[in-house]
Amino acid sequence: MKAFLAAIALCVLAIGSEAKVSGSGTTTRYWDCCKPSCSWKENVATSTPVNSCSKDGTTKVDPSVTSGCDSDGTSYVCNNLQPWAVNDTLAYGYVAASFTGGVDNSKCCVCLKLTFTNALAGKTMIVQNVNTGGDLSSNHFDIQIPGGGVGIFTRGCSTQWNAPQSGWGQQYGGVSSDAECSQLPEELQAGCHFRFGWYQNADNPNVNFEQVTCPKELTSRSGCANNNF
Ligand SMILES: *[C@@H]1O[C@H](CO)[C@@H](O)[C@H](O)[C@H]1NC(C)=O
Repeated sequence: MKAFLAAIALCVLAIGSEAKVSGSGTTTRYWDCCKPSCSWKENVATSTPVNSCSKDGTTKVDPSVTSGCDSDGTSYVCNNLQPWAVNDTLAYGYVAASFTGGVDNSKCCVCLKLTFTNALAGKTMIVQNVNTGGDLSSNHFDIQIPGGGVGIFTRGCSTQWNAPQSGWGQQYGGVSSDAECSQLPEELQAGCHFRFGWYQNADNPNVNFEQVTCPKELTSRSGCANNNF
């Protein structure tokens, strides 16, 4: 039975030389201000990695600049990689993803349709994978939501925005009400409000996922598009 469920959970369908992913998975949320790992040229199968930004979150910096989450690093996630609602049932956003458990750069910049299955049933998010994480389990999507908790990397938001050392709100989970979004810099507040609006403050909802062609709404912000995917 377990093997059967595992087979359903990760159905890998070979299309040409690329393998498209689909299955069922879990979510968490975070915003750690760090340069996403798919912003390193070495990690992406394209000449244009995910944009990374200087302290203001809008000025693009060279992909070789060290992450603000490392000592003396000065590059951060760009502000526009926060989620937004298209309408009541569809939203766009960005995630750190792991299909295998652990760091998984092979899927940098692929897009996924996440269909919520328990909380938020009837809603979907189309997301681009911009990051990886050694703290992620299999088929785990960590959705970038400002004020959603900084997680294991505490240096980013404190050096970029002078946030409290363990981030806004709880280190894991972040702020706990829409009103607390006011603690964040103005540039990040829309994405924080998204959590208490469209996202209904859902606490790590489960999803079914399938790989989809990246919509230009996502690639135009991230700067990363790989037509092979
Ligand atoms: C939401 O927007 C998508 C994309 O434009 C569209 O396909 C869908 O029908 C819309 N849903 C509603 C409920 O308006």
